[in-house]
Amino acid sequence: MTDATTDTTIDRYKPPALRALPSAERAPFYARLRALRPDIERPLRLLYGGRGDFAMWLRSLIDVAAQAYAARSADLRRLDLERMAVPDWFQDPSMIGYVCYVDRFAGTLDEVRDKIDYLEELGVRYLHLMPLLAPRAGQNDGGYAVADYRQVAPALGDMDDLARLADGLRARGISLCVDLVCNHTAREHEWAQRALAGQKDYQDYYHMFADRSGPDAYERTVREVFPDFAPGNFTYQPEIDRWVWTTFHDYQWDLNYSKPAVFSENLSILLFLANRGVDVVRLDAVAFLWKRLGTDCENQPEAHGILQALRALSRLAAPGLLLKAEAIVPPPQLLPYLGQGPATNKECELAYHNLLMVMLWSSLAERKVALMTQALGKVARIPSRTAWVTYVRCHDDIGWAVTEEDAGDAGLNGHAHRGFLSDFYAGQFPGSFARGEVFQFNPRTGDRRISGACASLCGLETALEHGDHAAIALAIRRILLLYGVIFAFGGTPLIYMGDEVGLTNAYDYRQDPNLSADNRWLHRPYMNWQQVEERHDSDTAAGQLFAGLRHLAMVRGQMPALHAEAERHPVWSHNESVFALIRDSQRGRVLILANFSELSQTVPRYRLDELGFAGRLRNRLRDEVGAYGDNDGDNDGDNDGDAVLDGYEIMWLES
Ligand code: GLC
Repeated sequence: MTDATTDTTIDRYKPPALRALPSAERAPFYARLRALRPDIERPLRLLYGGRGDFAMWLRSLIDVAAQAYAARSADLRRLDLERMAVPDWFQDPSMIGYVCYVDRFAGTLDEVRDKIDYLEELGVRYLHLMPLLAPRAGQNDGGYAVADYRQVAPALGDMDDLARLADGLRARGISLCVDLVCNHTAREHEWAQRALAGQKDYQDYYHMFADRSGPDAYERTVREVFPDFAPGNFTYQPEIDRWVWTTFHDYQWDLNYSKPAVFSENLSILLFLANRGVDVVRLDAVAFLWKRLGTDCENQPEAHGILQALRALSRLAAPGLLLKAEAIVPPPQLLPYLGQGPATNKECELAYHNLLMVMLWSSLAERKVALMTQALGKVARIPSRTAWVTYVRCHDDIGWAVTEEDAGDAGLNGHAHRGFLSDFYAGQFPGSFARGEVFQFNPRTGDRRISGACASLCGLETALEHGDHAAIALAIRRILLLYGVIFAFGGTPLIYMGDEVGLTNAYDYRQDPNLSADNRWLHRPYMNWQQVEERHDSDTAAGQLFAGLRHLAMVRGQMPALHAEAERHPVWSHNESVFALIRDSQRGRVLILANFSELSQTVPRYRLDELGFAGRLRNRLRDEVGAYGDNDGDNDGDNDGDAVLDGYEIMWLES
């Protein structure tokens, strides 16, 4: 068969797996196959078109999708139809995310089900459970070294428990997100073990080199992700006298996507997870999927091709499934993961907004927002059917992604500013309220990333230790300020487990030999359910934070103007400490004002007018107390004045 005939062959292809289905169930698959054929074929032809049996291989992928579709439960197929009818379901302002480790939050998957009430009380509609597939024993990078993608980590339960949990969450309107570690497997994975046993087919699944010449050539241009505890990008395997590509730890082997079998295997794992009821798959470390000599081997066009093909094929089998890209790269390299040009709305639906997170911490340390306003202002708009995932803290470190250019535009020196931020959050800068630790000091670049829990970085740990009530109050305001920005920014904001009750750094990881080398465990605590008991007590930090976050979630859910599709424009507030952001769409206009200093700040009335927010403004965040008459904040009893923000106050203003 020649490639010229492939198009029509696939169009008319009737996968055997569908034969047993009633024709009413087969029809939607065929309709989607016709519609998606170009999106499936275009990227795959670029990646693998050279192989002689391309047409046959393409059919085998359609078979994988058809088998998954045929095996998909009636409930999930119904959900698919609903989501196709309401394609912006995940962009709704009521989407509030929560991220946790199963064991550290609840114990087992079954026990997570017992916590659904709690999540619901907080306003959660999306739950990201950190890596839960069977990892290698011992060190496993927090579960990011998977030994078996079709088993749940035995300590957490099994696949049936996962499916039951997904059902339970769905019944309460909560979507489930899990990780697919698609860039690498554990050295203990069956494919790697077969490779180590000398099986050539499986050695091809990885990047293997007979001597150092290949690795040395690549090392000239690739960076080191963990320069401290995992220097270099290649690991020697004496069993087979080969060097293997290991971007992260020596036990995490990078997969070789130039081999079609690696793509097929990952497609089938993706659909396997979708059929367990997973709604969103977080694709880990996608920037690294494709290697090209002479480049940094990140964000290569082929990496996008792989994601586009995965997305089109998953649409065929499970159109309700969303893909979330974990690519911690600068905006110009990040945006393509949400689809660009011909791939607009055809790659991942979700991507982490790392720059926003970094800018929040930068503004908080500096009490100035020029850098944040400039840097965020340069981020291009994203396709209509995609959304940012916004976050204050996650399980990883904070790397100071401040470019020289952005720093220069804000009158700063990039190198000096990054150094200042590391000093500040390591608690080494005079007057710093933060208590974090340096992660992965790189003596070659001088780079120092930061670990630490949100509450500790915001000053709560030190304040509690000193019993300093004023400092406690300020720390709480800082946490709510940061969350207030990510809740208004657009997309899915994530609450990182424990932030809602102010959990501070957890130092006990130092006693565990499998964890002690990696201080990211500082901000991966066990849930403190005793502290959670205090969540309705407004005299406690936990009570104030919980109520504050719940309030943000509740108000956001009632504001169509905060739909993810609404454009966002950072604008200059005429006050160097107040970040201003306009959300603007047919659904309404909102002006977000966020005061990053502990002192009261004013945004002048004329500036509000210039920004198109004239007349009487309503601060949606104060509606709850009802008596907020003087909405513009000037306390003169009418509504024609300046906006006066208390220290660390955030306002969501509507005309
Ligand atoms: C992602 C994860 C990080 C992990 C790395 C390697 O960046 O967020 O925790 O170490 O991938 O899997």
